[in-house]
Amino acid sequence: MTPTKIAAPGRFITFEGIDGAGKSTHLAATVARLRARGLEVVETREPGGTALAERLRGLLLHEAMSLQTELLLMFAARQDHLDHLIRPALARGAWVVCDRFTDSTYAYQGAGRQMGAEVVARLEALVHPDLQPDQTFYFDLPPALAAARRAQARAADRFEAEDLAFFERVRGGYLQRAQADPRRFVIIDAAAPIEVVATAVATGLLP
Ligand SMILES: Nc1ncnc2c1ncn2[C@@H]1O[C@H](COP(=O)(O)OP(=O)(O)OP(=O)(O)O)[C@@H](O)[C@H]1O
Ligand SMILES: [Mg+2]
Repeated sequence: MTPTKIAAPGRFITFEGIDGAGKSTHLAATVARLRARGLEVVETREPGGTALAERLRGLLLHEAMSLQTELLLMFAARQDHLDHLIRPALARGAWVVCDRFTDSTYAYQGAGRQMGAEVVARLEALVHPDLQPDQTFYFDLPPALAAARRAQARAADRFEAEDLAFFERVRGGYLQRAQADPRRFVIIDAAAPIEVVATAVATGLLP
């Protein structure tokens, strides 16, 4: 009897950290490294990644709204992203490399906006009860250093305009997530020079 052929499931890798920590800088290199292994790699981001979710991103980054609306829109964008991009890619065996995912919502809305982890967990249970990243790189950086890097890079969006106290809470939220799941998280010292960070990411990447 011919064994049923099951498509190898892909891997889901996420990059996390406060604005200016270096996620985008190292995500591109990671995607290139995986493609050099001959893998199909889908590079994407949150909020966003699909046409609808990118439109929601525009609202989230630039329109004033209540905290509850912000939280629900984040998960609305994520639902669309999962349905139309992430899950189909993983199902056909691709690797998905995503700039931010639900850990960002715990860190920004849960901790930064002080909505608490419980409400985030309830929406997570609704939208993706069955799926977690296989690996998460968390770029840890003191908020003052991140702000200095951002100031050189570009104009601030609605989140980046927040003060240092907000980003201290976000960082605390991330560290709590990372400590609760050390198997999934790779904590990167993002204050190190770019080449040192690049080596740490390359070394930590799933085989
Ligand atoms: N290790 C580093 N040392 C010094 N500068 C860095 C380092 N890593 C990144 N940078 C610079 O800091 C800036 C922010 O980096 P990057 O855009 O990768 O951050 P990010 O985490 O993607 O931020 P955001 O969440 O806002 O997209 C860029 O100008 C980048 O060149
Ligand atoms: Mg970025």
